[in-house]
Amino acid sequence: MTQEHRSKSGFETRAIHAGYEPDPLTGAVIPPIYATSTYKQDGVGGMRGGYEYSRSGNPTRTALEGNLAALEEGERGFAFASGLAAEDTLLRTILKPGDHAVIPDDAYGGTFRQFDKVHKLWGIAHSPAAVSDVDAVRAAIQPGKTKVVWIETPTNPLLNIGDIEALAGVAHEAGALLVVDNTFASPYLQQPIPLGADVVVHSTTKYCGGHSDVVGGALVVRELELSEQIAFHQNSIGGIAGPFDAWLVLRGLKTLGVRMDRHCDNAEKVVEFLTSHSAVSQVIYPGLEEHPGHVIAGKQMKRYGGIVSFRVTGGEAHALDVCAKAEVFTLGESLGGVESLIEHPGRMTHASVAGTDLEVPSDLIRLSVGIETAEDLLADLDRALG
Ligand SMILES: Cc1ncc(COP(=O)(O)O)c(C=O)c1O
Repeated sequence: MTQEHRSKSGFETRAIHAGYEPDPLTGAVIPPIYATSTYKQDGVGGMRGGYEYSRSGNPTRTALEGNLAALEEGERGFAFASGLAAEDTLLRTILKPGDHAVIPDDAYGGTFRQFDKVHKLWGIAHSPAAVSDVDAVRAAIQPGKTKVVWIETPTNPLLNIGDIEALAGVAHEAGALLVVDNTFASPYLQQPIPLGADVVVHSTTKYCGGHSDVVGGALVVRELELSEQIAFHQNSIGGIAGPFDAWLVLRGLKTLGVRMDRHCDNAEKVVEFLTSHSAVSQVIYPGLEEHPGHVIAGKQMKRYGGIVSFRVTGGEAHALDVCAKAEVFTLGESLGGVESLIEHPGRMTHASVAGTDLEVPSDLIRLSVGIETAEDLLADLDRALG
């Protein structure tokens, strides 16, 4: 399959083929795990295929990076050791002391902690704003200082929706970049770059990897110039994905489309079940008509995703009890794997934002709905809710 043919093909074809041609020597259809730190040179400076040392480049990682760029329709992809390593490299590339960033007022706790406890020490300020409120994001911009508008959509764990196209306009008017953390949607459900985003961030630990067997991160960049700066920083900082981790994420991406459709099918059934349950006070899912971001989600997402959050009637004690009683839903952090997970954001993933403006309700439960048999998931929730 030629590069040109591939760039015009559909999402699933790109997911399976982009980034790698069968090995010319063996015909291997899947890229080998290049477990090598260095490469024999044909004379001083005579690199074969551009590889000299695996921090700078490794063919398994190159295959993943090409695949991610094709799926997100960006200029270039970069694979990192974790989502937070990707974020750190990005922020060190695009911000300098004295700069300011607007971040979601319900950002993933680890992202908030990195802004608040790491980058702030080096003179980078940040202000939270609701991603669902374009005017609030505009108002949080500090003219001349704000260099990045950082959003998640849907957000974690409250599933708020930001209008990517409108927020790209707001960021660009102010001379800032729009960065979209696309972890929750995955490139199958949403592609921020064609909507105007400059950089897409992923925790590939989640849907991209898809099997809860790898921690990884990625950046996909819209334009060449910023791509070159990121490449320089990826090599200079060194937070790269190793070859085995890159191979696992690449393998996961090949089935992303079919997995996401099943995640969405099951999530829709779970939402229907929870909506009519007497022990549930609120179900939060962008696919629900009453969700404030429903129309925008429908405009920019193919479907509404596999994450469902809900609040229970009996307060925090009840929420903790449901988490303890669930069996098919495994109690655990993370999301996006084939298995269903349940967690209490207030005490688990979002404990680091307790006591701040980003604190989440204590009766909130987050589900990462997996791809098991839907009836088993509903029976498990019914039992756990009592
Ligand atoms: C939305 C989002 N972004 C970034 C991250 C950080 O990724 P990682 O845990 O791979 O460092 C996470 C992790 O949960 C996340 O949920």
